[in-house]
Amino acid sequence: MTEHIQPVTDDPRLDGRAVRRIVYSGDVIATRVQELGAAITAAYPDGDLLVLGLLKGSFIFLSDLVRHIARPLQVDFLVASSYGDAMESSGVVRLLYDPETELEGKHILLVEDIVDSGRTLNRLVELLGDRKPRSLEICALLHKHIATELHHPTRFIGFDAPHEFLVGYGLDHAENFRHLPYVASLQ
Ligand code: IMP
Ligand code: MG
Repeated sequence: MTEHIQPVTDDPRLDGRAVRRIVYSGDVIATRVQELGAAITAAYPDGDLLVLGLLKGSFIFLSDLVRHIARPLQVDFLVASSYGDAMESSGVVRLLYDPETELEGKHILLVEDIVDSGRTLNRLVELLGDRKPRSLEICALLHKHIATELHHPTRFIGFDAPHEFLVGYGLDHAENFRHLPYVASLQ
């Protein structure tokens, strides 16, 4: 996937902060999300589909994505928290909000903003897998391809992302920038 390198214009959303360049414009994202929706539609012929968004980062991506999935589905969310740096390497992840919906027997599509080290996903896949879903797949808007021990392949990927800190379209830096309609780099 091509990177679209553009200078950041005078965007009043940025308030003079250090966003350096737009990596994926709103138009480029919209086209790709439409393609992902079509691929997901084609991949699930029958059965209950539950699209599970990992908050907060996936909130914009998920809301655009589900509108391009042309089949019946349900939506729920997960809130996960890691125990902090010391514990992170062991992949300790706690669910702060657990989906209310029954997972057993359903196709689960876990939606992530970005796969970086993959630790969060590894633990979540284990947790969700214990609930006997009919299938469990991951859809990530961005994938840095630096994770060395991913236990579960990411079946649907929006973009192979550069190894930079990215913000916008749901992704934050210290809770800022989530509302940008594009993905930008801080580096
Ligand atoms: P992982 O467990 O290292 O794969 O990281 C997962 C989470 O870290 C993602 O869901 C994001 O919330 C956050 N994250 C990782 N890389 C970035 C980035 O480049 N920008 C913003 N958030 C990121
Ligand atoms: Mg974050």
